[in-house]
Amino acid sequence: MQSTNLHVSRLTRAYLHPGRLTHNMQLLQRLVGGRPLWPCIKANAYGHGAGIIAGHLLRLGYDTFGVADVEEAAALTDSGLKATFVVLSAMLPEHAEALVHYNCQPVVCTQEMLEDLEQEAKKQMKHISIHVKVDTGMGRIGISPGQVQDFLEHCRACPSLHVRSVMSHFPRADEADKTFSHFQIEIFKRVIEQSRSYGVEMFHMANSAAIFDLPESCFDAARPGIAIYGLPPSHSIKNQRVNALQPVLEWKSRITFLKEVPAGTGLSYGHAFTTRQASLIATIPAGYGDGLSRNLSNNVDFLVGGRRCPQVGRITMDMSLVDVSALRGTVELGDEVVIIGVQGEERVTADELAGKLNTINYEIVTGISHRVPRIVVQ
Ligand SMILES: Cc1ncc(COP(=O)(O)O)c(C=O)c1O
Repeated sequence: MQSTNLHVSRLTRAYLHPGRLTHNMQLLQRLVGGRPLWPCIKANAYGHGAGIIAGHLLRLGYDTFGVADVEEAAALTDSGLKATFVVLSAMLPEHAEALVHYNCQPVVCTQEMLEDLEQEAKKQMKHISIHVKVDTGMGRIGISPGQVQDFLEHCRACPSLHVRSVMSHFPRADEADKTFSHFQIEIFKRVIEQSRSYGVEMFHMANSAAIFDLPESCFDAARPGIAIYGLPPSHSIKNQRVNALQPVLEWKSRITFLKEVPAGTGLSYGHAFTTRQASLIATIPAGYGDGLSRNLSNNVDFLVGGRRCPQVGRITMDMSLVDVSALRGTVELGDEVVIIGVQGEERVTADELAGKLNTINYEIVTGISHRVPRIVVQ
């Protein structure tokens, strides 16, 4: 028997809508005008599946992507994807060989890294483009604004390296009060003035929130992440066009077991839920091993038969329970259960789950684990 005929795929799946990705990119592109967009596809494209997302973006004409590290760039390159990868996190000199081998464009903010990249590029007889990161207030990686000229002098002494851009990042662009972001933009403008005499041509700092609310920060390129996936950067974005974003991902499972239980039945580990009346309880093969947080136990609704049904009992590693008593007589084994997405008139968003977990939509989608198949909806 051919293995392709066997049903081995997990029933809990993430469904990706490429048409919505196209829509979101068009929306963002309108906001930045003709400037290049460098979509961030780090962390497996925020959990969406980096290969699928990058492939679709390439077909749309985008060819430069933000990744976290050289491993992400290497995996995509080895899979046959031909694109430019800007490596956004700080790397150690021990990564220089791989960065050069994979023609990555690393963000650089230490002299050691500069020297090791130069040495390695020479050894491999290559020219490597780099991006100089300036910390204008993120308080994470980057040289300080006062070090820019000095650092660019060092770059000049590295003939195998080409400074493609000077960049920075916003820590608070998603907040209603933009005072700090405006302060950063002013600092970055001074950095730009100082960098021009070194022949640097590109400057960028805008993330998704800034694309919507701080158009003056878009300079020569922008690096959207969360918005390309159709999710709002926060609830404080002022630009109403954020409401036009379309979530690219839906997360669904299926009912694999149904059971009538009497009132007073303890459900799942610790009996953290006891039925108050006779109940019809469905099991779905989704748990914290799939990225469905155990902290959502007894505090989340799934969609079944177009209705909100409460999840009950502890979410376990591989399975969770849903009270489908309201659907007696209609619900069946194999029925679809929506964890994130739309069913009939009802909708559960990544933001709703994030709110219950006191986190952000970024963490919800990025947390969908590797064992959940990513399926492209045609
Ligand atoms: C350096 C850098 N640029 C851009 C982004 C994209 O940010 P967002 O997903 O908020 O658009 C990130 C994401 O964390 C980042 O680290």
